Amino acid sequence: LSKESKKGPKSPDLTDLSERKSDHLSFATQSQTDLSELDRRFYYEPLLQAHPTREEKWPSFTFLGKSMGAPIWISSMTGGTDKARNINQNLAKAAKEFSLGMGLGSCRPLLQSEAHFEDFNLRPILGPHVPFYANLGMAQVEKLVQEDRVQIIVKLVEKLKADGLIIHVNPLQEYVQEEGDRFQSPPLETIKRVLDKKLFPIIVKEVGHGMGPQSLKSLMELPLEAIDFGAMGGTNFSVIEAARRKEKVSKEFTVQPLFKVGHSAEEMINYINHIGQEKLSGSGPHKSHPIECKNFIISGGVHNYLDGHFLMNSLKFPAIYGQAHKMLLHATGDYALLQEFITSQIQGLLMAKNFLPLRTLSAYP
Ligand SMILES: Cc1cc2nc3c(=O)[nH]c(=O)nc-3n(C[C@H](O)[C@H](O)[C@H](O)COP(=O)(O)O)c2cc1C
Repeated sequence: LSKESKKGPKSPDLTDLSERKSDHLSFATQSQTDLSELDRRFYYEPLLQAHPTREEKWPSFTFLGKSMGAPIWISSMTGGTDKARNINQNLAKAAKEFSLGMGLGSCRPLLQSEAHFEDFNLRPILGPHVPFYANLGMAQVEKLVQEDRVQIIVKLVEKLKADGLIIHVNPLQEYVQEEGDRFQSPPLETIKRVLDKKLFPIIVKEVGHGMGPQSLKSLMELPLEAIDFGAMGGTNFSVIEAARRKEKVSKEFTVQPLFKVGHSAEEMINYINHIGQEKLSGSGPHKSHPIECKNFIISGGVHNYLDGHFLMNSLKFPAIYGQAHKMLLHATGDYALLQEFITSQIQGLLMAKNFLPLRTLSAYP
């Protein structure tokens, strides 16, 4: 140990202290709080734990059979465009450094050509230990199933050295997209047909509208690796696709009414807990089939680590939280920015774990 670390952090000298005291006087007025903004999801218990140390790591744990160093998932985003490679490589570097899980953006370009393979070829950066999933849309999976060409997906997963496939189920996005596809059968049937072949582990997700209780229940009864929420409350793909439309009739009449339907992550958690409880107690409409899928990635509108802390601890199943847009914001330039963002997320999670128990879990109102 160096002299300094033996003594603890260096004490500020008198000039620093006097500067701080002067700042306090200047900023006191602008620090007045507004109770309407109080975050009522947590108790604040300042007496019961010490601070996490600056070097403290989240205790590592196993999720989807792989090792993770923090309960954070880098949600599926991009590939197949000029800017994508740098973004993906930054994200993969972070996943490796912090041992996070990562889902690729739609690998559809790879079904057509090898041209963009390097955008998606992240396993060499990630190393073998973290969960890493390829991604295809339901429309592409349905087509390959109908044409009895699912082996193409097997090859894709193998070539990427991915742990499995994320299927994004996005009927609203496809409908709003001008050149979008139309599903010819219920997505649940297609998922079952792929699962029956036992080819690779599968995660199912939405892309920003979430899912209702009947869909969640149906998925929980399947031997999926995980369900990724893609809940409403953050990025909205229908709005993105609508912005790209070139139609003459106003969007207000054609697609806009669909923008605001869906389910928040909090709502989805309530459905899942309810379904779980009914199935375990053997009562209610959800009792008949056992729960096969018990892993969840809570995503869609998870704005920060406090949302993550609240949502993960509200769900009565193993869960981590995923972010797309917030990761993207920090991944487009210098890696150091993303590194700082994720470090701050993990430090925030550790603070929350020590000082902010959930209100709903306690006996006090
Ligand atoms: C730029 C961008 C591209 C995305 N592309 C995909 C995709 O290819 N496949 C997919 O499953 N989801 C995709 N998503 C959806 C995200 O994985 C996520 O479900 C959604 O953005 C909600 O999370 P957020 O609120 O944290 O952004 C994309 C999201 C963004 C922001």
